[in-house]
Amino acid sequence: MIKKIMVLRQKDKDSEAYYQTFLYEMKGDADTVATALRRINMQDDLRDIDGNPTEPIKWECSCLQKKCGACAMRIGGRPRLACDAKLIEFGDVVKVEPLKKFPIVHDLVVNREILYENLKTLKLWLEKDSNLPEKKIALAFKASKCIQCGCCLEVCPNFYPKGTFFGMAAIGITTRLLSEISPKERAEIAKLFDEHIYAGCGKSLACRKICPAGLDIDELLVNSISMAIWKMK
Ligand code: SF4
Ligand code: SF4
Ligand code: FES
Repeated sequence: MIKKIMVLRQKDKDSEAYYQTFLYEMKGDADTVATALRRINMQDDLRDIDGNPTEPIKWECSCLQKKCGACAMRIGGRPRLACDAKLIEFGDVVKVEPLKKFPIVHDLVVNREILYENLKTLKLWLEKDSNLPEKKIALAFKASKCIQCGCCLEVCPNFYPKGTFFGMAAIGITTRLLSEISPKERAEIAKLFDEHIYAGCGKSLACRKICPAGLDIDELLVNSISMAIWKMK
């Protein structure tokens, strides 16, 4: 089966963006957008659908198995991981675009540094040994599955880079840390949680079904709010 991979390209933040389409012949039903991008780029004489010679498509990947978040992009209009988006899910044309909430670097590569800056602002690190109670192990494990891909931020109506609201990309690690420190030690992180997550989240749950790591946003929200805002154990 032949797919048309329609890529939104942009040389840098100051250049004009344009769509360029490539033909890709699927090798099997397991082929993903990541497979297509890799194989398209492997061609020595890369040409688009009109036969124009062109440069390889810039995109990021590392694990190719949904573990690192590097390959997050908009596929078919929704934020997805390229290594998890099977081509058979789409029609003849598969539209591939960079995440729009972050500054463009080149083609499908965006600068998601703000995710890590926000985690630093929230002071999400342990200053002494973990004090994880037995009853919080399951919650901490689920919370730690966030891969910082940024897909939840892409669909969030309240998140924008450099804003005071940090979105659900911060909820996993915040919940994990709140679970690991004693209620007495939570005051500072609870204040930051209130300012940067609780106050800004409209609880619309647009981000609920988007997480490629399968984080249960409802559960993490309920638990982090109960620990940070209502000061429960
Ligand atoms: S619940 Fe709504 S406002 Fe809150 S992080 Fe998710 S999408 Fe954004
Ligand atoms: S919560 Fe899910 S969608 Fe959001 S950054 Fe973490 S892994 Fe990605
Ligand atoms: S390459 Fe790591 S999640 Fe896709």
